Amino acid sequence: MKSLTHQGVEELIPYPPGKPIEELERELGIKNSIKLASNENPLGPSPMAVRAIMDRVHGLHRYPDGSGYYLKERLGREFGLPIEQIILGNGSNELIELIVRTCLTSGEHVVQAFPTFLVYEKVVKSAGAMMSSAPLSDFRIDLNAVYEKINPKTKIIFINNPNNPTGSVLKKDQLLGFLRRIPTDIVVVLDEAYIEFVTEEDVAQGLDLMKEYPLLFVLRTFSKLYGLAGLRIGYGFASERLIDYMNRVRQPFNANSLAQAGAIAALDDRQFVARTLKLVQEGLRFLYAGLDEMGLPFVRTQTNFFLIKVPHGGKEIYNRMLKQGVIIRSMDSYGLPEFIRINVGLPEENERFIRTLKKVL
Ligand SMILES: Cc1ncc(COP(=O)(O)O)c(C=O)c1O
Repeated sequence: MKSLTHQGVEELIPYPPGKPIEELERELGIKNSIKLASNENPLGPSPMAVRAIMDRVHGLHRYPDGSGYYLKERLGREFGLPIEQIILGNGSNELIELIVRTCLTSGEHVVQAFPTFLVYEKVVKSAGAMMSSAPLSDFRIDLNAVYEKINPKTKIIFINNPNNPTGSVLKKDQLLGFLRRIPTDIVVVLDEAYIEFVTEEDVAQGLDLMKEYPLLFVLRTFSKLYGLAGLRIGYGFASERLIDYMNRVRQPFNANSLAQAGAIAALDDRQFVARTLKLVQEGLRFLYAGLDEMGLPFVRTQTNFFLIKVPHGGKEIYNRMLKQGVIIRSMDSYGLPEFIRINVGLPEENERFIRTLKKVL
């Protein structure tokens, strides 16, 4: 008998079967719950994106532009890149899968720092490849530890900057030094899903580093800053050669027509971007102050989310908060069982989070 799947898939842990908020509320007998669990934009979607999507709805009987020409052209103008160096995806998640399908074969090896975004490992193991994880040092990616994990079979290195779930960042000179040191036949995927939230100086920017390291693949998304997580649209930058290979592998209509229209409009929505960034900075100040007052340790972030160390363990606090209608993330699957992760919400949501945490503790 042939086996149904392979060892990599056998070892995967299924994504926790979440329920729609409406269903949870019904089961728990609560109303008006709030969600601070998925690093989404609490302001809602970019209003300009919503208008553009509404305008495009009537064309839904047509397939999307498979080349994503107008969005790539708009991104090209935004970032000073030719469209041949840009690729679109059904969320940046799809691009993580695409780079793996394009470059990795079974038996090859990948390195990540851990804890990090869980999707990298899932995709690599599904491809029948091996994943090594370099532990963080004081909640930061330790590039020396990542370097130590490289072996002759290493094909891809995933670096998440800022890193989810820690919110830590790598400086430009740190990452540049690393890229100059590693074998030049390794593809480095630099996932910048939260880069727009960074306020620290001299943080590494993939766009600058591409000139230094030809096999760099930089990932960005419209899911966070632009509030379009449900639309599923992300993008990536790389050399023409790497993009060409990925274009051969990808599904022809992977970026849908509403997503393309919404994303173009979102890039012009400067007011929404400014409001979001202000909300996040003010929210972080409020939340940090509330936690300091409670004497709870937390990890300062460069993003719209952060880790909090809680008594009784993250899972217990997650359950207690859930019963009060505050949905957060427990961090046991990230190997941080004493922590929860929350994202910044609206001011009233942040207040409710602090109030409820005090209550359940
Ligand atoms: C680090 C990181 N990369 C990528 C993504 C995926 O984003 P998208 O919605 O573009 O697939 C997320 C979403 O949570 C993330 O945290």
